[in-house]
Formats: sequence, structure tokens, C-alpha cells
Amino acid sequence: MAGVDSQVTTNKGSIYMFAGKGGVGKTTCAATTALHYASLGKRTLAISTDATPSLAHIFEVSDNRKPARVQESLYISELGLGEVEEMWDKKFGREVYQVFSSFVSVDYDSFVEFMTSMLPGLSDEFMVDYIRELRLSDSYDAIIWDTAPLGQTLTLLQTPAMLVEHLKLAPRIYSKLKIGQSSREPVLDIIKRWQKLSADNIDFLRDEVRFSMVTIPEALAFEQLEDIFFELNKYGFKVERLIVNNVVRTKDSDFLLTKAGQQKQYLDMIYDRYSDLEIIELPMHPYEIKGLDRLEEIEGDLFK
Ligand SMILES: Nc1ncnc2c1ncn2[C@@H]1O[C@H](COP(=O)(O)OP(=O)(O)OP(=O)(O)O)[C@@H](O)[C@H]1O
Ligand SMILES: [Mg+2]
Repeated sequence: MAGVDSQVTTNKGSIYMFAGKGGVGKTTCAATTALHYASLGKRTLAISTDATPSLAHIFEVSDNRKPARVQESLYISELGLGEVEEMWDKKFGREVYQVFSSFVSVDYDSFVEFMTSMLPGLSDEFMVDYIRELRLSDSYDAIIWDTAPLGQTLTLLQTPAMLVEHLKLAPRIYSKLKIGQSSREPVLDIIKRWQKLSADNIDFLRDEVRFSMVTIPEALAFEQLEDIFFELNKYGFKVERLIVNNVVRTKDSDFLLTKAGQQKQYLDMIYDRYSDLEIIELPMHPYEIKGLDRLEEIEGDLFK
């Protein structure tokens, strides 16, 4: 079985994203990968776009600065709506507000809150944008992106493409708004810039992000894999490796023997169906994976 490093054959940079259904081990794999690159001396950031993040928990860090330092070369950052509002504010907020407030009376903070919480996918788009900016800033050699369970991740990934579609209609609508030419022009200009930002975000996801899918050898997880591969393919996002977690290796009881026997049929199906991908098995451990020592043990499994 090949380790992760041997797979680096494309021109892609070092942004790794871990996706999969709830509870299969995405954060564990993301944290392990981050620790791995940091221990090679790369400036590494593990970043989470999960609304209920757990990177700080797994690394046992109580510092809630963004980023927070874990150890030499290793930082974590858990993105929330606050950061998204800040980005929206920086890129579009004031300009859009000026136009908006010429015909609606609303204070600026309420306006930003309204936009970032109401517009479909806006927060997702800015999460992608946040990571793209980080990449452009060149502050880190490796960025490890831990995501929320399946459904939310798919929304996050599809948002830039959906926004491009959605914004195509916008000029037609805004040009009909009963506002003067001087107000209309800046709006159209903002829409154009926003379209460009969405398009850049799709390109970024497609060209620069290395997707790893995490799963477990069980029926439901196997079935859901198909769906997520289908969705990712639609936008041209290619998964590079499939991590099968929680594989029972030590079969020293009837209980574990039965469990391993059941897993075997799903493992066979996974190898059969995804033979074009690098498949990495992670053994099930009898303890939860928390703290640097435990993560180092997993590192041995993930990077052989
Ligand atoms: N190989 C393993 N052996 C033993 N325990 C594991 C293993 N992998 C993960 N765990 C444990 O399983 C739990 C869930 O793992 P993790 O938080 O990484 O999943 P997740 O996919 O990120 O979950 P969520 O979808 O909620 O974000 C954790 O308590 C973790 O310690
Ligand atoms: Mg998680």
C-alpha cells in the first residue's frame, strides 16, 4: 500500500482537503496530515470550516487566537461566521452598503449581518475565498483543510459555481432598478467583480486542492461514497486518495472476528469499485485519537 507522499505527481500545491460523512475520521486524518508536514519542517496550517470545529480539541489547544500555535511550524485556525463577515466586509461590504443605503435605511452592521447570513452560500463562498487568499499570501507551505460532514461540504464546494450562475441574472435585474445611473454603475461593477471571485474560487478548488475522501468499511458509508464522487465529478474536482478508517486488525475476540468479517465485504467492494484511486487503510485503535502522541501513532499508518 502506497503512502500519501508517493502520490504527489500533479502540479498541485500543498492544500489538502478531507471530506466524508459524519464521524468517519476527517478531523483525525486532517490533524495527522498537518502534524506530518509540520514535522518535516513545513510551515503548516490546519484550518477548519466546520461549524462545530474540533481541531483545537484534537490538538489539545486552548488558545483561541486565529491562528493558534500548536508547536514549531504547526498552527490551527477554526473559521467561523465572524471571519466570513470580515472578508465580505473587506471585499464588498462598504461599496454594496453605499448603494443599498441610498434607497433603504439600514445601519451598516445589520446590513453586513443580513447579507452574510441571508444570501445563499455567501458564507461558503467566502470560506473558499479565505483559503484561496491564504494560499496566495504564501504564509504557509501546507494548508490542511478539515471540513464539515458530507452535505455541508458539498454545498461549500458547489457554491462558487452556483453563484456564477446566479449572478448572470443580476445585471438584468439591477439594470431595471429605479435608481439613477450613478448608483447603477457601481452595482454592475460589483457584480462583475463578484462573478470573477466565484470563478476564481472554482478554479482554485479544481486546480489547487488535493481531495482526500475518508470513509469506513460499512454499508451506509460505502453507499454515500458514490454520491459524493458523483457530485465532485460534476465540477471537475478530482479525489486523489481514499482513506478507509477504523479497519479492525487485531482479531483477538469473537466480537472483533465477526466485525472484521463484516468489514471484509465492504473493503472488497471498495477496492473493486475504486481501483483507480490510492487506497489507504487506517486501523481501528482501542482509544480515541487525541493529543500529539496519539496522532503520531496514526501518522505511521497514514504515511508509510
Ligand atoms: N482509527 C481510529 N481508531 C480509533 N478511534 C478513531 C479512529 N479514527 C477516528 N477515531 C475517533 O473517532 C471519533 C471521530 O473522529 P473524527 O472527529 O476525526 O471524525 P470526523 O469525520 O471529523 O467527524 P465530524 O463529521 O463530526 O467532523 C473521534 O473520537 C476519534 O478519536
Ligand atoms: Mg470533524
